[in-house]
Amino acid sequence: MKILGVETSCDETSAAVVQDGQRILSNVVSSQIELHRPFGGVVPELASRHHLEFIDAVVAKALAHADVTFSQIDAVAGTFGPGLATSLLIGLNAAKGMAFSMGKPFIGINHLEAHLYSPLLAQRVEDCLPMVSLIVSGGHTILAHSTAIGEHEILGQTMDDAAGEAFDKVAKLLGLGYPGGPEIDSRSKEGNPVAIAFPRSMLNEPNYNFSFSGLKTSVLYWLRKNPHHRAEDVCASFQEAVVDVLVGKLMRAARDKGVKTVSASGGVSINSRFREKLNAECKRSGVRLLLASADLCTDNAAMIGALAFYKLKQVGQSDFALEVAPSIGLAEVGA
Ligand code: KG4
Ligand code: ZN
Repeated sequence: MKILGVETSCDETSAAVVQDGQRILSNVVSSQIELHRPFGGVVPELASRHHLEFIDAVVAKALAHADVTFSQIDAVAGTFGPGLATSLLIGLNAAKGMAFSMGKPFIGINHLEAHLYSPLLAQRVEDCLPMVSLIVSGGHTILAHSTAIGEHEILGQTMDDAAGEAFDKVAKLLGLGYPGGPEIDSRSKEGNPVAIAFPRSMLNEPNYNFSFSGLKTSVLYWLRKNPHHRAEDVCASFQEAVVDVLVGKLMRAARDKGVKTVSASGGVSINSRFREKLNAECKRSGVRLLLASADLCTDNAAMIGALAFYKLKQVGQSDFALEVAPSIGLAEVGA
């Protein structure tokens, strides 16, 4: 079965064709990073205008790359939330419109569940569950215990900034470019991670929640007191603090839940120090680690088209009346 997936929840316009939930035949992403860079963050009005302008061409390219025509597509899936309402509307309506006009099933997909599913794309899902999974992106930091597709217990989440947001804000304080995560990652390679003892917020608290705004404020105050700093050392020390908390809580949750599989997804899971440390910890604990390739960690439609295959099998197609749900959580996966 070939599913056309569409994703426009934030600032990437993406379409993909995925076969049987596992084989990516195409995955086209039109990034808006350059568009938003001068503003240091995503401008919703610009994002939706870009989606509207490019969605047709991105879908056409996805079909061409997959070497399929519209009539060879069996179903169309689109993200219905969470995300920016004006961005979600473009992709969801495009997906509904294509499905309706072709008389094919339409499947609404929860963006967070798609992120969570992305490391399993090349695997047999049954072999990976139960697992403890961390979704770390620009908008979310969620720790979940997944027992089946659609069955996710939220163990914890951020109380304030998302991990990616903290990377972006600290990069801004340091005068680095947008998005900040990749900049901090590469500068950290030349820096000393123990140069500055930034706080590991909530690491030792007995829950699975996160908080990153205090860390960001610590960096701000430290920079004010130390104007002649080495940016590489600040980057490496800040990154180490974030990674310690993310990896520490993820591994503790895996131990507490007694799972044999751990996974991470979302833009921050590309971070090289995060991957290195998590890999080492999983090896030490004898736990299997699943990570997606970098192009599947950031927003993309392949994860939408892939998850839709299982949703269609499990719960069937969605109602065409399905509305965008900008604030929907991971647990609300019913569409
Ligand atoms: O998953 P994503 O594309 O967007 C959301 O759905 O939110 O993630 C984007 C976030 C940005 O905050 C970006 O700075 C961060 O992921 N990011 C990274 C790295 N690459 C991207 N953070 C740390 N290290 C990286 N290498
Ligand atoms: Zn995302």
